[in-house]
Amino acid sequence: MSAEVKRVLSGIQPSGTLHLGNYFGMMKPAIELQEQNQCLYFIADYHALTQLPEPEQLRERSRNVAVDFLACGLDPERTLLFRQSDIPEVPELTWVLSCLTPIGLLERCHSYKDKVSRGITPNHGLFSYPVLMAADILVYGSHLVPVGKDQKQHLEVTRDLAIKFNNTYGEVLVVPDAMIRDEVAVVPGLDGQKMSKSYGNTIEIFGPEKKIRKKIMKIVTDSTPLEDPKDPDNCNVFALYKLMADEEEVAVLRERYLAGGMGYGHAKQALFEKYLEYFAAFREKRVELEANPERVEQILQEGARRARDFAKPVLAKVREAVGLV
Ligand code: ADP
Ligand code: TRP
Repeated sequence: MSAEVKRVLSGIQPSGTLHLGNYFGMMKPAIELQEQNQCLYFIADYHALTQLPEPEQLRERSRNVAVDFLACGLDPERTLLFRQSDIPEVPELTWVLSCLTPIGLLERCHSYKDKVSRGITPNHGLFSYPVLMAADILVYGSHLVPVGKDQKQHLEVTRDLAIKFNNTYGEVLVVPDAMIRDEVAVVPGLDGQKMSKSYGNTIEIFGPEKKIRKKIMKIVTDSTPLEDPKDPDNCNVFALYKLMADEEEVAVLRERYLAGGMGYGHAKQALFEKYLEYFAAFREKRVELEANPERVEQILQEGARRARDFAKPVLAKVREAVGLV
């Protein structure tokens, strides 16, 4: 690997069905990074376990994340895709880091405090979640970690722990940089709020066509009469169209909004057609992968094997540094 190739690592929670917000906000930028970098992307099933999902649901969702990523263009030759729980070096490093983690540092984490304030009775896993996340990152000597803004504090904990480890035991761990995706626009949902599973306002990438069309037709618009000019820049339909259409197509639809005489039903139909065109190849690829679960499993295992090649030497140095050999 040449000196400029950065090791990029990120974890994805297996938490539900992929929607336009996840795709444009997280998956597409993550996949684009594979062009220039050595990317390692894993399914954070240990992290998901902190919420005690149904076992079958956890398995199913983890598999779905893998299939979604592969269908959307992750290239398993270049990028390592694997399950967190297939890397035994991760829980081992977690323990070592735990012993360097002040309780107060974890008590200050917003994500933990938010969950507690929402009435969730915290288990120890939820409390120590940021330590596991630090191990996820540090065990591969990762340089860059692309995450959403909500994970910024967890990245700070990771850096703090790496620095503390190095100050205590010598320069062993790479101190990673966060790559916060705040330049990615928030994708609006059917009701104009941020698209999110928790708001029930999502448009899925892989749902049945009919269901998708029905949802698109339900997107909230204002009540400008059909014949009047409309404001494209204050319209949820237009905002979504812009994500998928090229510049010229966007300009054409903009003109139609401004000219008047076009109802929102037409704009929604244009959005639906664009959606189908944009995701056609991904949807086809997903059907293929679904029919071939052994291939998906093989990719995950190969990804884990190659990821462990990065993890093993780091862990060996850690063990030696702390006196475990
Ligand atoms: P949800 O809000 O549906 O539960 P998650 O919190 O699981 O979605 O988000 C997974 C990833 O997708 C995160 O990295 C987040 O930044 C991104 N994401 C989710 N919704 C949006 C959105 N509406 N716009 C942009 N990015 C989003
Ligand atoms: N906590 C992250 C989230 O909820 C997922 C995650 C786990 C992660 N381990 C990570 C992200 C390591 C980046 C690096 O989105």
